[in-house]
Parts: sequence; C-alpha cells; structure tokens
Amino acid sequence: MRKKVIAGNWKMHKTIPEGVRLAKSIVSKMEKKPPAKTEVQIFPPYISISAISQVVKGSKVGLGAQNMAWEEQGALTGEISPTMIKSAGGKYVLIGHSERRAYFKEDASMINKKIKLALKNKLKVIHCVGETLEEREQNLTRDIVLNQIEWDLKDLKAEHMRNLVIAYEPVWAIGTGKTATPAQAQEIHAFLRDAVDAVIAEGVGKKTRILYGGSVKPENAEGLLSQPDIDGALVGGACLEAGSFWKIVQAAEKVSK
Ligand code: PGA
Repeated sequence: MRKKVIAGNWKMHKTIPEGVRLAKSIVSKMEKKPPAKTEVQIFPPYISISAISQVVKGSKVGLGAQNMAWEEQGALTGEISPTMIKSAGGKYVLIGHSERRAYFKEDASMINKKIKLALKNKLKVIHCVGETLEEREQNLTRDIVLNQIEWDLKDLKAEHMRNLVIAYEPVWAIGTGKTATPAQAQEIHAFLRDAVDAVIAEGVGKKTRILYGGSVKPENAEGLLSQPDIDGALVGGACLEAGSFWKIVQAAEKVSK
C-alpha cells in the first residue's frame, strides 16, 4: 500500500516567527484530527528549520529542507549540507525542484549527486520532475520525464527507492493557477511507474510513491488525489495558510482506501 503524502513547499515565504506560527497551527490541526492514512510534511526555508523542529517535535508532522548541497562540507558559500539539515531537525529534502533547475541552473549531474548524498545521510528525498509548456506543446513530456528519471536517479538501486518519493510537477502548472487535469496527471504518473521499472528494476515502479504538484488547491485536490497513480501532492501556494493546506490533507484522507 502506498500511503498518501501531502507535502507543503513554503518556498521563500515566512519569516521565522511567521513560520513558527504556521507550523503551530498545522500541528494543532494534526492533534485534533490525526490523519490515519496520510503523511504530512512541511518544507520551510532553511533558516526556520531549527525553530520549527521544536514545534513539530513529538507530532506527526515531517520536516524537511527545500534543497541541499552536493557535498558534505567545504568551500561552497551560501550552501547547506545534509548533516546541517539533520542537525537542525530536518528529516526530508526536496531535490531537483524546477525553480532550482531554472533559476539556479541545477543539472542532472548535480541533482544525481545531491540525491545520492541525501540518501547516504539518511535523509528522505522528494525528487521533482516535470516538463515546461514548450516541451508539452512539442509532445516531449514523456521524453523529458524519462530523461530526468534516467539521469537524476543514475546508479540508484531498488533499496534506495524506499526512501525516495517522486513529485511530478509540470512547470507550466507551478504557481500559475493552471493545474494539469486529473487525466493528464494520471497519464504521466502511470508512465513514470514504467520509467522507474525500466531505469531501476522491474516491480519498483508500483511501490514508489509519486506525488503531483502544480497549483494544487482545496478545490482540485480531491479530483487529482483520487487518481489511481497519484499518491499525494506537493503544494506550494496553498500550503502557506494552515486552513487551505489542511483541506488538502482532508481530501487525501477522504480518497484513501
Ligand atoms: P504551487 O507550487 O502549488 O504554488 O503551484 C508547487 C511547487 O512548486 O511545488
């Protein structure tokens, strides 16, 4: 059984006190009505992780970072290592978000190194893939995501995949209010399972959790999450307010068998 995951990517939002407040409201909602079938994870900016780890301590809210460096330590001004994330209380990390790829020029070899280093350090990874609008219009969606699986996950074995979740995030749907239809997302999720089988090992695809991301909101969450191959959501805009984030968690609970 693939347990659903609702993950909130805060991006560059919330100061430390604002983040602590948001985390407190999520924890309090979790305590009032603990979701039985859904994992909840939050990814605040690095600088808030330590303070927020005190808030989520003892609760079921998972805490992670939005990125990390590909080295354990060294002369990499402005970067953060996996051991630093762990020492601040983070257990998860997002790797290969399209904003990192587009604005910070992260390529497959960096992403591959980061994923391997995160797993080596026992951080659980959410690995993001997805095509741009131009690529979709040229009918290249499948080629692009297959390529990302192939190169970003190079050398990974079946046992690594237990600690890795994939997030399919079509770039044209991120922060644009344009969501992939449930059918469009389902089609690519099913394709990604085959891609994981082809790249990693037969049978791993159906065990791997694959989240959808890109303008997920309370209004469209249920339709997306009820698709057979969509195992949760990576939420940006709608996770910045506890109420709307919580509605998405409830939608996941509702559709989980
Ligand atoms: P969005 O962001 O929900 O604001 O589209 C999703 C993401 O980038 O992870």
